[in-house]
Formats: sequence, C-alpha cells, structure tokens
Amino acid sequence: MTADEQKRVAAEAALEHVKPGMKLGLGTGSTAAHFVKALGAKARREALDFLCVPTSQATGALAKEVGLTVTSLDEVPHLDLTIDGADEIGPHLNLIKGGGGALLREKIVAFASRQMIVIADESKVVPHLGNFPLPVEVVPFGARATGDRILEAGKLYGCEGALSLRTDEYDEPFLTDSNNLIFDWALGEIPDPDGLGTYVSRLPGVVEHGLFLGLAHAAIIGRADGTIETLKR
Ligand code: A5P
Repeated sequence: MTADEQKRVAAEAALEHVKPGMKLGLGTGSTAAHFVKALGAKARREALDFLCVPTSQATGALAKEVGLTVTSLDEVPHLDLTIDGADEIGPHLNLIKGGGGALLREKIVAFASRQMIVIADESKVVPHLGNFPLPVEVVPFGARATGDRILEAGKLYGCEGALSLRTDEYDEPFLTDSNNLIFDWALGEIPDPDGLGTYVSRLPGVVEHGLFLGLAHAAIIGRADGTIETLKR
C-alpha cells in the first residue's frame, strides 16, 4: 500500500470509535481529510448527525462540503473524541504535530476532548521525536528575538539545530489561521521533550509548540502490508 492508502485505511478504521451523536474534533492534514470524508459518508449512509469542531479553516470547509455539522469550541467546549494525524508518533504516543501549520487549534481541540486518537501511515511511527522539524508558532512582534530565545532554550535541553521561518508558496512568511508565524526547528533528536516543551511554552512570544505530550490515547496505523495496528498509551 502507498502511504496515502495507509492513511486512508487508518482513517476508515477510526470510524469504529465514533458513536451516534458524538461531539467530535476534526484534525488537519491529508490523513485527517480522509477521516472527514469517511465520516461524512457514514453520516449520510446511516442518517447520523455529529457536532464537529474543525482544527483549521481548511478542515471546516471540507467538513461542510461533505455535509457534516460544523460548530465551534465556543458553542461546544467539551468534546467526546478528536481524530487527527501526526508528523511523528514517538514513545508513549508523544507526538510532533504542526507540519500543516494548524498546531495551535489542534492542541486546543485535543485538550478539550475526552479522547484523542491519532491516525497515520507507518512512516510516522519513530523511536524518538525530533527528526521531523519541530514547529513553533510565534507572534509576529519580535519574532527574531523570540527565535533567539528559543535557540537558547534548546541548548539547556541538549537540543541544537537550525530554526527556519516557514514560508508559503510565494516565498512570503507563512501565516497560521491565527495570523502568527511558524519556526521549524531541525533538532534531529529531542532527549527531553517534557522539559523542552515546558520551557519553550513559557517564552514570551511563543504561542504554542508542536510537541503533543500525553494527549493521544491511541494511534491507528495503516501499514504497507495492508494491516492495521492500534497502539495504546
Ligand atoms: C497539521 O498541522 C499537522 O499537525 C498534521 O496533523 C500533520 O502534519 C499530519 O499531516 P498528514 O496527515 O498530511 O501527514
């Protein structure tokens, strides 16, 4: 199976965790998009209604397109289940997320959910976090100074690597749905994700980082050989 087929089968397998009337968080990215489409088809087929909170404008648009009921965390502050993709799934189901730029809303939505299930292709499962550059969302004001503080924080936690400002297809700074910037931090390995995450979160100017620690309850992995594996925390 190709990586995209693995994503699709993982997304479809996640449907079995969805019960009628649930309040759902919908993730962002290509794997989450497979889930949104599969959920829309299930809702139509079985005449079910779900209240869905999307983690990005793109996911919200797709959810509406496939006929799902879209709401917000202001209307529905407690969710039953969030289904989302990941860039890396490390030990204890700790994650790196934010490759698609939606980490802030993704983390808020996951935190508001009783359960978070990750869906992914097998390439996302890694022995340690950090090969995928860690996204860090910062406010535009003083972004360069904030970047320097982030690099200093890294040294305290055994992490050194280049920090690059994410750009869009026009080579302009990429702006998140909340009009912030993203640094991608190439670390290679993060020896102490908890320590680094806690320290970086405290830096003024940092809005959020892409370490999702202790948030995922399970991960459904589509494998190249066509099998599906469920990892539990
Ligand atoms: C979006 O901001 C990310 O957190 C995605 O969940 C992550 O990048 C996974 O993307 P794919 O499902 O496209 O691989």
